[in-house]
Amino acid sequence: MISASTALPLRVAIIGAGQVADKVHASYYATRSDVQMVAVMDSRLEQAQAFAERHAIPSAWQDAHQMLQAVKPDVVSVCSPNRFHYEHVIAALAAGCHVMCEKPPAMTPQQADEMRLAARRAGKVLAYDFHHRFALDTQLLREAVQSGTFGEIYFTTAQALRRCGVPGWGVFTNKSLQGGGPLIDIGIHMLDAAMYVLGFPAVKRVTAHSFQKLGNRKNRGQFGEWDPAQFTVEDALFGTIEFCNGGVLRLDTSFALNIREQSIMNVSFCGEKAGATLFPAHIYYDEAGVLQTIAQREEADDQRHLRSMDAFVRHLLGEPVMIADAEQGLVIQQLVAALYQAAETGESVTLC
Ligand SMILES: NC(=O)c1ccc[n+]([C@@H]2O[C@H](COP(=O)([O-])OP(=O)(O)OC[C@H]3O[C@@H](n4cnc5c(N)ncnc54)[C@H](O)[C@@H]3O)[C@@H](O)[C@H]2O)c1
Repeated sequence: MISASTALPLRVAIIGAGQVADKVHASYYATRSDVQMVAVMDSRLEQAQAFAERHAIPSAWQDAHQMLQAVKPDVVSVCSPNRFHYEHVIAALAAGCHVMCEKPPAMTPQQADEMRLAARRAGKVLAYDFHHRFALDTQLLREAVQSGTFGEIYFTTAQALRRCGVPGWGVFTNKSLQGGGPLIDIGIHMLDAAMYVLGFPAVKRVTAHSFQKLGNRKNRGQFGEWDPAQFTVEDALFGTIEFCNGGVLRLDTSFALNIREQSIMNVSFCGEKAGATLFPAHIYYDEAGVLQTIAQREEADDQRHLRSMDAFVRHLLGEPVMIADAEQGLVIQQLVAALYQAAETGESVTLC
């Protein structure tokens, strides 16, 4: 949290001036009078300069370390490609900044753990932008779990599936810069939402299968064009996570898969007493073959991404607001790594 000596407005710098920095981070910060964007950095200087101009940010940089030293921000948003999250988060924490880092936390659990320890040593907040847990839908289900509405939840399915939604921008098909395909990019979101609702139960064992069947053959889809010859990530992964409490979580994720729907981003929970779907939240039970509704939202909350940013800033300002913290970020990174390892080796990965 911000110490009493930190003056407002909070001075924020952004690293990685791409689309999420533009549409979410800068757009959110611009709504607050107690936050001032003071600098932006991108490895392409002209990108940083154009971003600075668009958001009325006074300085644009090509080197993160020089920017941190010269500008001394209070807060840094890390929005660079996955491969650089570790370097940028560690540098920002070392410069005495609180950090909001885009998902995934890093490329490996070892990096995510070092980032967690660095934040602890520096006494700074490190939050990750797992924004689906901030949806009102997710909050409703988490409260229902806590109040015992479901009884024991023994089966959960998390799906982040696209029929043909390979990202046509950025480095999302490049394994060495991205760390993987749909699992580390979109599956991770539904995984975090599921784990959050379940209360992060301890994991016993992970199994998975991954495929590369369409991304290296097709070249055009819902999110533009890509080069199939440069498609080095999985295009689908199907995993099972077994919890120490006996429950099971199925995770299905794809950039390209011959499903009927264009996209599915959802989680379902099945408990002894009731079940639920997440987006939009619907909690129900069966009575003699008839579905009875316990609670329901008409539409899924579309403000969840701004709520994630809002929670981070309010947390910094001392409000008792939940964030996706460095400990939970590490658990999610460990699960992603275990799913990839299980898919690559064909062996189950035991975690406890
Ligand atoms: N929370 C979400 O839902 C969400 C949505 C989109 C992206 N993201 C995450 O945000 C990050 C960026 O994604 P994006 O869609 O904005 O990508 P993008 O390609 O639009 O932007 C990335 C930017 O980083 C710059 N860059 C590349 N290497 C760099 C380096 N070494 N140092 C600084 N800048 C560098 C690029 O020039 C580009 O401007 C990724 O980690 C992605 O997973 C999260």
